[in-house]
Amino acid sequence: MKKSFLSRISDITKVSHRANFSDVHQKITKYKYGSDAFMRILESRYSCHSFDSTPVQDSKLEMILDAGRMAPSAMNMQPTRIWVVKSEEALAKLRTVHPCYNAPVVLIVGCRNEEAWVRESDGINAAKTDAAIVLTHLMLTATDAGLANMWIWDFDPSKIREALPETREHGIYGLLAIGHPAAGAGDPTKLHSERKPLEELVITL
Ligand SMILES: Cc1cc2nc3c(=O)[nH]c(=O)nc-3n(C[C@H](O)[C@H](O)[C@H](O)COP(=O)(O)O)c2cc1C
Repeated sequence: MKKSFLSRISDITKVSHRANFSDVHQKITKYKYGSDAFMRILESRYSCHSFDSTPVQDSKLEMILDAGRMAPSAMNMQPTRIWVVKSEEALAKLRTVHPCYNAPVVLIVGCRNEEAWVRESDGINAAKTDAAIVLTHLMLTATDAGLANMWIWDFDPSKIREALPETREHGIYGLLAIGHPAAGAGDPTKLHSERKPLEELVITL
């Protein structure tokens, strides 16, 4: 029987707690350096637009949040905060602003400019960059834990602050919906396979 992608990673790394995606949706490249595992996580991540009701294990959520904690930030100012939305009550409030594709867990990632480093040369505040790194750590670790996920940015932050007043002192940077993909509807979209070629992305000087 064909083994699913993440169970094959688990075989390689001897990590047994990873769950499995139903299948891999793209080719698996054999990389020359490192353990291969990290590149495989990058290859297997995709934006999931529909989740089923299977809950997310607390132990996986803890691992994901800890990965967010490890994120670097400009001058180590750590201006990011994460709200874990998982109770039925909180999810219902959040879904009045965005349906979040019915994910059983949504992480709200916020930050405060006042707590972030400001670059002297041009006055640019690093808060949003720092928050994006935290969100990226969360997203990739969720993938590593065998969980489908979706970075959501198309929402009105002021409405989230209104629906969940616990967030009101922060800028809401983004949402990460986490869970298990709904059969069929939770598969990758066409956009997942559309990337510019390296020659267009990279300019070597
Ligand atoms: C910063 C950011 C914001 C995004 N916001 C949304 C969003 O609000 N709604 C949505 O459907 N997809 C959103 N996406 C998902 C992108 O559309 C998706 O990453 C892209 O189409 C590539 O597909 P893939 O993630 O499956 O590889 C967002 C992705 C990123 C990185």
